[in-house]
Amino acid sequence: MLRGRIVATGSYVPENVVTNHDLEKIIDTSDEWITERTGIKERRVVNGDQATSDLAFEAASIALKRAHLRPKDIDLIIVATITADMAFPSTACILQDRLGAKNAAAFDINAACSGFIYGLHIANGLIRSGIHTKVLLVGAEVLSKVTDWQDRTTCILFGDGAGAAILEATKEKRGVCSTHISSDGSLGDLIRLPGGGSRNPCSKETILKRLNYIKMKGNETFKVAVRTLEELVTRTLADNSLEPSQLSLLIPHQANIRIIQATAKRLGMPIEKVFVNIDKYGNTSAASVPIALDEAVQTGRIQDGDYILLEAFGGGLTWASSLVRW
Ligand code: ACO
Repeated sequence: MLRGRIVATGSYVPENVVTNHDLEKIIDTSDEWITERTGIKERRVVNGDQATSDLAFEAASIALKRAHLRPKDIDLIIVATITADMAFPSTACILQDRLGAKNAAAFDINAACSGFIYGLHIANGLIRSGIHTKVLLVGAEVLSKVTDWQDRTTCILFGDGAGAAILEATKEKRGVCSTHISSDGSLGDLIRLPGGGSRNPCSKETILKRLNYIKMKGNETFKVAVRTLEELVTRTLADNSLEPSQLSLLIPHQANIRIIQATAKRLGMPIEKVFVNIDKYGNTSAASVPIALDEAVQTGRIQDGDYILLEAFGGGLTWASSLVRW
């Protein structure tokens, strides 16, 4: 049976660091509040002219090099993002052009913070069906440009970055063992960016009402996230007939350290077996899981044969998980 195997990863974050102390100077907040409530100490923010495809290009180039592949070897590019360079062409098509990946089809997907794992679901499905064999999957965001820097309830949370993975078809008993994706559109109001689309096209009014920025009901979102992720990780392990003790590493979406700790507790996993980098980057939405995955690989936290569990929760609402045998 064919399945997708992640043969290489790459990631990129902008150089510019914004610390909690920097935020204390522009909004009514404190390093102590942000650290205690979220686990975030600092985040990366692009320079004015950098766009999502620029970050995606850096991460994808690193992953391609590590996979010893040329861009023209790739037959599909998927970019998960909620901060595309523009409405169209897609960020994936812009990336295809920058890379010179002339033999690839390219499209974007939007599943907010769950986007990378949604992309894994699609990529693995197309590899299993024999339609594609070498897929470049990227999660990339420039959230700083849709963040309301006057809203202390959201601006402390987000950061910019990109992560990439190359999937290749394999007949070995390793790679993506399962993917699980879910949505609940009835809770879409909890996290949204209402302006700039066909409902509220960009106008003087939408700008004055600050509709072109992310809005979030954080506390309600938090409760749904904890409940949903606990159910999701339990189901993912059951579907793969695995006990939590057989997992080598949990790689969660980095939204809030308290959500991460609650999920780890449900699995009975010690925090040493959970990958955490929220302190450095904050919530980078679709880029969060692939950046964490890449850092886990590069720091030797993942070895051949390990079972790792990826999970995420975000706007839509959407949530997703994947069990991967490395
Ligand atoms: N600094 C200081 N005080 C603050 C700040 C701040 N930055 N932000 C809010 N507060 C205050 C509030 O005004 C409130 O004060 P009050 O009690 O006087 O009214 C108090 O702190 C508590 O506010 P809560 O919103 O209840 O704080 P909570 O503990 O829920 O933490 C947070 C907020 C961090 C946003 C949390 O709810 C959270 O992480 N939610 C989940 C986010 C998430 O997972 N999103 C999904 C992915 S995002 C995506 O898809 C793009």
